[in-house]
Amino acid sequence: MSAATARRLDRRVYLHSRPVLFALLSATRRRPVLRLGRTVLVHDPEAYREVLTRVPLDRTAEGTTGGAAAGLTDGGLLFDQDGEAHRAGRRALAERLGSQGVERLRPVWQQVLADRLDPLAGPLDLVPVVRELAGATAAALTGSGAPPAVLAGAASAAAAAAAADHLPGLLPRRRAAADAARAAARLSALLPDPLDAMVAVAAVNTTVAALPRAAAWCARAGLWPQVSPELASELLRLTAPSPVLPRVAAADATVAGRPLHRGDRLVLVARHAAEAHRAAPGRPATAAQAVFGAGPHACPGARLARVQLTDFLTVLAPHRPVVLRARVDRRSALPGYAALLVGPGGAR
Ligand code: HEM
Repeated sequence: MSAATARRLDRRVYLHSRPVLFALLSATRRRPVLRLGRTVLVHDPEAYREVLTRVPLDRTAEGTTGGAAAGLTDGGLLFDQDGEAHRAGRRALAERLGSQGVERLRPVWQQVLADRLDPLAGPLDLVPVVRELAGATAAALTGSGAPPAVLAGAASAAAAAAAADHLPGLLPRRRAAADAARAAARLSALLPDPLDAMVAVAAVNTTVAALPRAAAWCARAGLWPQVSPELASELLRLTAPSPVLPRVAAADATVAGRPLHRGDRLVLVARHAAEAHRAAPGRPATAAQAVFGAGPHACPGARLARVQLTDFLTVLAPHRPVVLRARVDRRSALPGYAALLVGPGGAR
C-alpha cells in the first residue's frame, strides 16, 4: 500500500459519512469563501482563522455546535458561552487539561492500551478498544464512576442524535428532536454536571473518530516505523477528525474581502483550513493547529488528543498492524469507522 491509497481510503470515510454535504464542500474547495444564499462556506485557511478570532459569533443559534450543546443540557456550556462565563469555564478546564493534568490522566489510557493491545496476538477490532479508552479517559476527567464503555456509548449517542437533529434531512424533524432529548437525558443521568457532560461529548466523539482513522492511515501508508509525536500531529492534520464547524455570524463583518451579514450561517471547513488534502512538505504550523479551531474557543483538549494518539500508535507500532476489514460509521456525529479490524503484520 502507499500514501496515495491511505489518503484515498481515508477520504472515503469522510465522503461516506455525509455524502451530500461533504461532496459539496469538496467540489467548492477552490473558492476561498463562497456564498450560497444565507449560507457562507469558508474554505480558505486565513479566512477560517479570521472568522474564529475576529467575527462575533452567535453561540446559541440553532444548527451550530453551541446550539447543539445547549440542547444537550440546559445551556451554560463552553461551546455556547461568551465573555466572563466562558473564561471561567475555560479556567476550570485548563488545570485538568494542561500538561500536568494530561500526565495525571495518561496512566488511565495507557492501562487500557496495555490490557487490550499488548500483545496484539490475532485479529482485533480497534473501534471498541478506542471507545473504552475514550470512556475511561472521560470518566477520569469528570470523576465519574460509570463503566467506560457505557459512558462512551452515551456520549456518542448524544452527539449523533444532536447532529441528526441539527443537520437537516437525516431523520424526520420531530423524531430527531425526541431521539436527541432521550440521548441527552441518558448522558446527564451519568454526568449530572453540564460542563462534565459537554467535555465527555467533545472528548469521546473526537477520539473515537480520530484514533482508528490515524491507525488505518499508518497501516496503509506503511508509517509504523516512523511513529512519533510529530507524526501523530500530522495525522490529525491529514484526517481532520472534526471537519466542519457550523457557526452563525452575530454581526456584519468582512472576511477575505467578502461581506458577512448578521444571521448568516457559516460552514467553517476545518479540513480545508488544515490543508488536509495536501501532503506534508511546506504546510505551515498553523495548518496542524487549524483542526483544533482558533481563538477563544479553540479546543482545550488538543494536548491530550496529541499525547493520546501518540501513545496509541506507539503501542501498535511494534506489531506493524495491517487493516483486514473496515466499515464506515454512517450514524456517528463525526466521520469515522464503526469497525476497523486489524491483524499483526510483522515481527517485533
Ligand atoms: C482529535 C481530537 C480533537 C479534535 C480534532 C478537536 C477539535 C475541536 C474543535 C475544532 C473545537 C472547536 C474550536 C473552535 O470553535 O474554535 C473543539 C472544542 C472543544 N474541544 Fe476538542 N477536539 C479534540 C479532542 C478533544 C478532547 C480530547 C477534549 C477533552 C478532553 C476536547 C474538548 C473540547 C472542548 C471542551 C471544546 C469547547 C471549547 C470552547 O468552546 O471553549 N476536545 N475541539
